[in-house]
Amino acid sequence: MRKPFVAGNWKMNTSEAEAIALARGVAETTTGAACDVAVCVPFPHLAPVREALRGSHVLLGAQDVYWEAKGAYTGEISTAMLEDYCSHVIIGHSERRQYFGETDEWVNKKLVAVLESKLDPIVCVGEVLEQRRAGETEAVLERQVRGALHRFGNLNPRITVAYEPVWAIGTGETATPEMAQAACNFIRGVLRSIGGPIADRVRIQYGGSVNPENAAELLAQPDIDGALVGGASLKADQFAAICAAARS
Ligand code: PGA
Repeated sequence: MRKPFVAGNWKMNTSEAEAIALARGVAETTTGAACDVAVCVPFPHLAPVREALRGSHVLLGAQDVYWEAKGAYTGEISTAMLEDYCSHVIIGHSERRQYFGETDEWVNKKLVAVLESKLDPIVCVGEVLEQRRAGETEAVLERQVRGALHRFGNLNPRITVAYEPVWAIGTGETATPEMAQAACNFIRGVLRSIGGPIADRVRIQYGGSVNPENAAELLAQPDIDGALVGGASLKADQFAAICAAARS
């Protein structure tokens, strides 16, 4: 059985004081949730949020990482730097692909580095609207999943995959539960062709305008094992309601 996993992606939001208050709010309101709960916060807030979450059940993550161990890479952050603060890291978010030119090859390099560290990765994949309209969704997902896992001897169950249709991110438009399930089921099939039965241990999240109203139906789908939540993760009560919709 896969334990559901709900992660908040705060993106480039919150002041330090807001981050601390939000983290405390999440810890309080999600106590007793049947799922694993994480918040992925801006880099400068990792240290204060780690303190705010100390002793709580809430896991802490970053939103990106670089694959090199150290050196002249101005502005970048290594896995070893993150390991001191958090347990999880998002890789290949569509906003990084869209605005910062991140490629499948980069995602692969980051994934290799992360799996060599103590961090657990959340690897994001998803099609843009034109690709869905052109019937290319499965081809895109297969390319992204195989690209991320390229050169891996085997699948690692520490990996979480987040299926996030780009057209549903921050738009208020959600994939129907059927569409989300079909895509996540397809992704699991690709994972199975790479890692055999290990694919059944890999958690696949849905992301894209998840909110307290649509969460239960999405999370009830057999291949959806949780959610990656953007906008609604910035309000502790909304995020807690989504976590409460996740049942083991
Ligand atoms: P959203 O973002 O919930 O605001 O659509 C999801 C994400 O980008 O992870």
